[in-house]
Amino acid sequence: MQNHETPYRVIPYGSSAATFYLKDCLAGLNENLEEKSVDVVVTSPPYNIGINYSRYRDSLPRQEYLAWLEDIGQSVKRVLAEDGSFFLNVGNKPKDQWIAWDVACVLRRHFVLQNVIHWVKSIAISKKDVGNYPNIAGDIAVGHFKPIVSSRFLNDCQEYIFHFTKNGDVRLDKLAVGIPYQDKTNIGRWKAAKEDRRDRGNTWFIPYETVRSRKDRPHPATFPVMLPEMCIKLHGKARLAVDPFAGIGSTAVACRNLGIAFVGFEIDREYLDAAILRLL
Ligand SMILES: C[S@@+](CC[C@H](N)C(=O)[O-])C[C@H]1O[C@@H](n2cnc3c(N)ncnc32)[C@H](O)[C@@H]1O
Repeated sequence: MQNHETPYRVIPYGSSAATFYLKDCLAGLNENLEEKSVDVVVTSPPYNIGINYSRYRDSLPRQEYLAWLEDIGQSVKRVLAEDGSFFLNVGNKPKDQWIAWDVACVLRRHFVLQNVIHWVKSIAISKKDVGNYPNIAGDIAVGHFKPIVSSRFLNDCQEYIFHFTKNGDVRLDKLAVGIPYQDKTNIGRWKAAKEDRRDRGNTWFIPYETVRSRKDRPHPATFPVMLPEMCIKLHGKARLAVDPFAGIGSTAVACRNLGIAFVGFEIDREYLDAAILRLL
């Protein structure tokens, strides 16, 4: 029997480590983390859309689901530093386009919504719409998405990343996820443009990593490592990031890549074992 007070596994890297708990995240946030000790929380909860997780029933009555996420939000608030960032990734399903916004509304009672980032999984750009753009030679369609066979609903090519903070005044390192200027004459012309990098804005194209077999992603609903990596970099200086719904550890891998400490909670041992394998 797992002792819920001790981590399931700690994996050191550099001068930091990833600490995984096989534990309900509400209990974990309340029992295993000090108040105001966390710089960044990046997570993606179950969306309540009937995904086939092995240990979690993803179809609660809506009000129960929202009340549960509100409780978790309050526990996140307790452990988050005053200048911390809480990045919450949520998506919808075709027949229910309000899920993400309903979740945002309950968290609104406890946080300020400082940014709304659109995680763009796939995009099509026609050459004719961009005009004489030197880097675009023809029509492009990039990224992966699950096709929706329906005459009513468009393919769902985006999800939300809600950036919640305690007071709405957290200073970000926008250039850490910035992009080069297309028109280099902007450098030096604007006071803010001291180097060849600008704010990329709130539409982030983050494609899924191509998986060859189910073995490569033994989980039905992951986000790409690049997503938590960009969130943590945008927040700026961070020592500890937490993912209450760790899954197979995409946020843990991002933390390892960035050399910062990670704490994650997950109720499914198989997912945690897969997360651990990704870090070894
Ligand atoms: C959307 S997935 C997260 C996937 C993760 N972002 C990744 O890339 O691997 C949500 C996860 O939450 C887990 N989960 C559900 N209820 C939980 C709870 N009460 N405490 C901790 N984890 C839970 C599920 O088992 C599932 O793996």
